[in-house]
Order: sequence, then structure tokens, then C-alpha cells
Amino acid sequence: MKKVRINAKAAKELAHYAPWVYRSDIVSGMEYEPGELVEVVDEKDRFVAIGYINPASTIAVRVLSFKNVPINRAFFKTRILRAAARRVDIPSDACRLIHTEADFLPGLVVDRYADYLSVQFTTAGMLRFYETILDILVEVLEPAGMIVRAEEYAGKKEGFESFVREIGSVPDRVVIEENGVRFYVDLRSSQKTGFYLDQRRNRKIVTDYIKQRDCVLDCFSNTGGFGLYAKVKKNARVRCVDISEEVIALAKQNFDLNEATGEFVVANVFDYLRELRASKERFDMIILDPPSFAKSRSKKSAAMKGFKDITVNAMKLVRSEGLIALFSCSHHVGMEDLKKIALQSAKDNGKMVEVLEHLYQDIDHPYVLGNPYSLYLEGLLLKVIDL
Ligand SMILES: C[S@@+](CC[C@H](N)C(=O)[O-])C[C@H]1O[C@@H](n2cnc3c(N)ncnc32)[C@H](O)[C@@H]1O
Repeated sequence: MKKVRINAKAAKELAHYAPWVYRSDIVSGMEYEPGELVEVVDEKDRFVAIGYINPASTIAVRVLSFKNVPINRAFFKTRILRAAARRVDIPSDACRLIHTEADFLPGLVVDRYADYLSVQFTTAGMLRFYETILDILVEVLEPAGMIVRAEEYAGKKEGFESFVREIGSVPDRVVIEENGVRFYVDLRSSQKTGFYLDQRRNRKIVTDYIKQRDCVLDCFSNTGGFGLYAKVKKNARVRCVDISEEVIALAKQNFDLNEATGEFVVANVFDYLRELRASKERFDMIILDPPSFAKSRSKKSAAMKGFKDITVNAMKLVRSEGLIALFSCSHHVGMEDLKKIALQSAKDNGKMVEVLEHLYQDIDHPYVLGNPYSLYLEGLLLKVIDL
């Protein structure tokens, strides 16, 4: 196996379990094949980690192990079995089984939806183990079918051709059950790998605060996750709003699947909240779960403005002592940023806010220390109170 030498700064970071080596921290040459296995050594030639390298990527090396072990079928099988074992208590037949670096399998995402798997390869290095990984998944998990993809956005960065393959037979819709609520999931859909599994725990926590027959506005609803919990668990009066016709159509079908009724609006939430201000309608709870506004640090200030806009308007639309669940799924806008946005928005409205809950991604999307990027979904459940 070839060696790759890194500078002292990077060696120190890896000693604290940083999962990556940036190209700029490599002090040896860059004559490697995309995805080739490498031994990472420090400037004194001491072993640091084993990983795979892609000279084309800013993140040049992704660590597979901090121990000097053979990277073979047994290695991957142990990792996959461990990842699956960590998820046995999840109250659903759908969960993320492998969450890339956070499960020490960089470049691999595997979601289980009942009897089916959605598998994503995002790096040239992990694609080198394509056959091995699929073989292990079949052996260990015995899926009825799999959708396997390598997305275009990743292929452009890593230099591979994108693809979507079906292995076995996967129905157009799979029914999953989460905390007693049923959802259709379209595994072929382009949003995430089909369903926002990371919000499972938050859907439950937030719903526990809703009272019978409360009015709930689920903004950026996608296929109705939060809203449907509110309806099924608390018989709330629910309206789901999303910009995508496709997901709103599926949200309606999800309500039908649970013999529940709701209202559905295809709209841009930024505009829709403004329109509602002119009406007399007011809500007991508003959920704000927007897409990632800040994919990079440079987008942070625009993202903060976007958050402020929806939060200020949502505060005008909740009843006295009403609740707002505010989420950021961007690592660059974290908990402290959300608190700043909430406080500023409250001030602008002449109100105060109380934090009822700090919210995070569910445990099938692990947050491992040493890898700060593995924490990416944070939220606040807020009560808006009068001064
Ligand atoms: C993070 S997802 C929400 C997940 C959802 N809360 C759930 O539990 O399944 C964000 C959603 O926002 C929608 N979206 C993006 N921009 C929007 C906009 N300006 N107005 C309304 N919806 C938007 C996307 O279509 C996507 O469904």
C-alpha cells in the first residue's frame, strides 16, 4: 500500500479522530489513483491512519481506520454489523443504517425502508468496494430489493459517472411505520434518499407539546412528517405547505393512508407567511423546517436573513403563548445562531421567547466527536410569550 505523508497540523487533528485529510496538508507527492487505499503517515513516517485518497478532491483522504488493520470484506462486514446493531431500538421499520463518516464508512449511506434498501455511494474510494458492500448488505440484511445510486453532484467532485440501479424489485412506493404513523416512501425520489428519517425523534418531541384540536401549520412539510404526527396523535387541525407539487401530492396520500384529514398548499413559504399575515388566521404551532440554506460557510449570512424572515413572520402568526419549532439542517447555522435569530425576531415583534427544547438529528444519524460536521441538524422548540 502506498503511503501519504501529512503535516504536523493534520497529524494532530487525526490524533483527535478528524476523519479527513485536506489536499493542502499533504507533504508527499500526489501520484495516486482516485480512490486508492493509502497508509497515512506523519512527517516522521509514523502510522496515523488507513484511508483512501482522491487527488481530485479538496478532501484528499478519508479515513477508514485509525488502526493498522487489513481493509477487506471482514473489515466492512464488521463495520456494517456494528452500525446495524446500534439501531435496533429505533421505533420504526425505517432508519438510516449507515451514515458515512459517522459510521466510519466514508462515502456510503444506506437507508432501510421496511424490506428495501436505498444505497448511495458518494466517493470514488467507496465505489472501489461496490461489489463487496452490496454482497455484505445482501448477506446481512436480506433486502427484498435495493435502489443503488451514485449521484451526479458527487461524481462531479470525485470524477465518477453517476448512475441509479435497481437490484431485485422495488415497488414505486414502500409503506413504512414510524412511532405508529404510516408513510409512503418513494425510494426513487431525488430528495434525500426518500424520507427525512433524521427528524423522527423531533416529530415525536414536538407532537408531545401539541394539544387536542390545536391548529398546526407545517411549513416546508415535505411529505407531511410533522403535520401527520400532529393529526394522528393529537387530532390537530393541520395545514402542510411545501413548494414542491410532487411532495404535497404524496403528503395528501400519506394522510389518506392514516385515514386522516388535512389541508395542503403548494407555495413558497416566504411568500405564504406574508399572505397569511393579512388574514385573520392564527396558529397554535408553526413548524419551520427549511432546506439547507447554507451549504457552505460563505452562504451563512444570506441563510441567516432567510431564517430571520420566516421566523419574524411565524411569530406574527402564532397565538399568544404559541409554539414555533425552528430547524436548521445546515452545519453552518447551528444552535447558537438559531437562538440569535429567535431572540432578534422576538424583539422585532415586541415579544419574548422561551426555549422548551433543544432538538437534534435522531440517533441513526450519529454525531461523533472529532467530526464536527457529523452534527448537522439542530433545532429549537420555542414558546412565544408576551412582554
Ligand atoms: C428539510 S425538508 C422538510 C422535511 C419535513 N419537515 C419532514 O419531516 O419530512 C425541506 C422541504 O422544503 C421544501 N422547500 C424548499 N424551499 C421551499 C420554499 N421556499 N417554500 C416552501 N417549501 C420549500 C422542499 O421541497 C422540502 O420538501
